[in-house]
Amino acid sequence: MCGIVGYTGSKEASEILIGGLKKLEYRGYDSAGIALQKNGQVVIAKAAGSVADLEKSLDDRFKAVKAGIGHTRWATHGRPTDQNAHPHSSHSGEIVVVHNGIIENNRLLRKWLIEEKGYSFRSETDTEVLAHLIEEYYDGDLLEAVRKSVSTVEGSYALVAVTCREPDRLVCARKDSPLIIGFGEGENFIASDIPALLNHTRNTCILEDGEFASITAEKVEVFNLEGCPVEKEIFKVNWDIAAAEKGGYDHFMLKEIMEQPVAVRETMRQRIDAAKGRVVPTEFEISPDELARLEKIYIVACGTAYHAGLIGKAVIEKLAGIPVEVEVASEFRYREPLLGENQLAIVISQSGETADTLAGLRLARSKGVKVLAITNVVGSTVSREADQVLFTWAGPEIAVASTKAYLTQLIAVYLIAIYLGEARKTLKPEKAAELVKGLLALPSQLERILSEESIAKLRSYCDHLATWERAFFLGRNLDFPVAMEGALKLKEISYIHAEACAAGELKHGPLALIVEGLPVIALATQKAVLDKTLSNIHEVNARGGAVFAITQEGFDDVARQVESVFYLPPVNDILAPVLAVVPTQLIAYYAALARGSSVDKPRNLAKSVTVE
Ligand code: G6P
Repeated sequence: MCGIVGYTGSKEASEILIGGLKKLEYRGYDSAGIALQKNGQVVIAKAAGSVADLEKSLDDRFKAVKAGIGHTRWATHGRPTDQNAHPHSSHSGEIVVVHNGIIENNRLLRKWLIEEKGYSFRSETDTEVLAHLIEEYYDGDLLEAVRKSVSTVEGSYALVAVTCREPDRLVCARKDSPLIIGFGEGENFIASDIPALLNHTRNTCILEDGEFASITAEKVEVFNLEGCPVEKEIFKVNWDIAAAEKGGYDHFMLKEIMEQPVAVRETMRQRIDAAKGRVVPTEFEISPDELARLEKIYIVACGTAYHAGLIGKAVIEKLAGIPVEVEVASEFRYREPLLGENQLAIVISQSGETADTLAGLRLARSKGVKVLAITNVVGSTVSREADQVLFTWAGPEIAVASTKAYLTQLIAVYLIAIYLGEARKTLKPEKAAELVKGLLALPSQLERILSEESIAKLRSYCDHLATWERAFFLGRNLDFPVAMEGALKLKEISYIHAEACAAGELKHGPLALIVEGLPVIALATQKAVLDKTLSNIHEVNARGGAVFAITQEGFDDVARQVESVFYLPPVNDILAPVLAVVPTQLIAYYAALARGSSVDKPRNLAKSVTVE
């Protein structure tokens, strides 16, 4: 989720690269760097910090150069340090690369390059593997070396490489991570995102997975995996910069909702052995002894992350048989919880900087409780202070209301629950394999939910909802935390007062508030309690409430009771929360849109609450 820029032409390359990187800082901003091809050498400037800091550090060596590459980083593999900043150079310094994505067989390749080929590494990043690999295969043609290198790597990549031996030539390759070529007059560009190009050209082409390109000032050649030339169509971009930053969407929130299939796929990468149907813990591990003694888990978080914790409680208890308490961090820290031996604390925080969550982490550690953090920000305080960290790879989230980070937090708690269940033998291997298969199917199921046709089904209900000042969300079992998250999202961005109600609690109070037309969003994805939920829906219907039901395909009884139904693809009930929350995000978004609210920056709220 970082940003890449490349330039070859006749202008001052450093200015174009720095300008492009500034336009991409919303994609990653913990470190930045550029590499320029100058007099048979590649000169590199890179450092932790902002693009503006990088710009200030450029001396005369970076002037009067016509080609180069740049990168702005959002750390995933390795902390945000000077060494880990891109570009990365090969052993001899002759090959230099920038890369977005994750090289899954990084460890194996690193071992091979060190032990068998004598390379030494300067950074903790997976990208450095690519630089050495390209050098290993280089035989006078950079494109061929890149092609050979990527054929040995597993994972995702958008990469651009340069070498001092082939001045003014950029070579790039793409798989599962965007790369766009920009065409100019006597100059050409490459970038991971359109905003970096718009000050220079609107003529672009998008590289597809498995394609490579060789780019010089005069010529762009694109090839497929087999090395055959590919004719690309030129795509003329009409967006302005603000729209381009949002990927053409009106708001970051919608862009981030749409990015969820990718974010979920990325967060599962390297953590699942699909062939064996197992979760492979790479970052978190609990010794057999700790596992045998583990009596209780506390999950501590705030806001949306707290809702991920509620799902975590349900799935860890179900799959691993360990009692779990979930607490809002601001309560946990002042409540004198019974912390002690044989416990584990899991803290969940997108930003890794939330003051209350951090205080909860410190409290747990001060009582000798081991802390596992789930966070989206490498180098954040939470990630530095926890004993172990499971990073979500959602990429930077800009909209205040969390969407893609939440989904990846859910994936993280499923991975932990399956891992603990298998290790404690409370989860049979066949059952674990079934869940793993279900997890791997989620990205394509999310894509279906996010299709235009599917979204059209909820737009008219949102127009109705937008005319009300209050609404209810109902759900039982795993649907209840989803209802809580749906209600939070709706109130955050549309300012409609929304309350989540455990469906069984309806008749203990909230039913008194149901009147003709009142919007009630009912989650009905859990087979085991479907009849019960249906009878609650019936109670709302009987009082004239306007029910919008979210359910699974095949649960036909729901449509018999409710006019507005949103179907999720069939899914294992345990995993349903990952899918079911998405229509609630869209409902919040379109209701807010209809009311003209400030979707990305709701009044009075902040993305990261670093003070009490
Ligand atoms: C704020 C944000 C929420 C977020 C919560 C916890 O309230 O607006 O979107 O869920 O903080 O943040 P964290 O970064 O710890 O997940």
